[in-house]
Amino acid sequence: MSRRRRVYEGKAKVLYEGPEPGTLIQHFKDDATANNNQKHATIEGKGVLNNRISEFIFTKLNDIGVPTHFIRSINMREQLIREVEIIPCEVVVRNVAAGSLTKRLGIDEGTPLPRSIIEFYYKNDELGDPMVSEEHITAFGWATPQEIDDMMALALRINDFMAGLFLGIGIRLVDFKVEFGRLYEGDMVRVVLADEISPDSCRLWDMRTNDKLDKDRFRHDMGGLIEAYQEVARRLGILFENE
Ligand code: C5P
Repeated sequence: MSRRRRVYEGKAKVLYEGPEPGTLIQHFKDDATANNNQKHATIEGKGVLNNRISEFIFTKLNDIGVPTHFIRSINMREQLIREVEIIPCEVVVRNVAAGSLTKRLGIDEGTPLPRSIIEFYYKNDELGDPMVSEEHITAFGWATPQEIDDMMALALRINDFMAGLFLGIGIRLVDFKVEFGRLYEGDMVRVVLADEISPDSCRLWDMRTNDKLDKDRFRHDMGGLIEAYQEVARRLGILFENE
């Protein structure tokens, strides 16, 4: 396994060279980080759950015509993906006030937002991923105006789809973060969904109890992270017996 060429290592994932040109293998680790890397832990089994949940959501999104980098599952921790050029902007969609929004604007956690809000953050660990506007993104050449339009349209479609998916299993989709990449096909280039969608990158609250079923359990030392991720997988129908 370690003989494969490592292309990139992030906080929770490793990318290896894929079997064909233009493909990569995305490997989900058990590592968890928060507060821009100040807090770090290894949580056994997290990578397997995130791989499976992300694979499930990406497959459904592919089915409804949202272009993604996902090709197919390889094993418990790995998936085959198309190689893309990551656009250095994290796109956050919010439906309910939580996290940095509550801190920045003094809004109570749990306040429903009158409409979904999209925010952009510049992907830069040294700077702690600062929030930026569309003006910054175009001024510094991180994405074109057309790419921003594409990212916003896709983010809203993803939000609509996922909010419905989770509503059906008694979970409120509070907010989530997605990343996009440029997929080069001949002389064509298009924006596709990349990275992952999992309880690491979403806020998911039980509709009845408001229990947090996401990475806030780690961020706020609440414990029970694996049990929460398993509960999400169980309700999605992708947790198998004895897990
Ligand atoms: O911290 P904040 O409230 O801005 O996070 C908004 C959403 O984006 C949350 O669902 C969080 O899990 C996700 N996020 C992420 N990676 C980051 C920052 C935020 O997945 N680097």
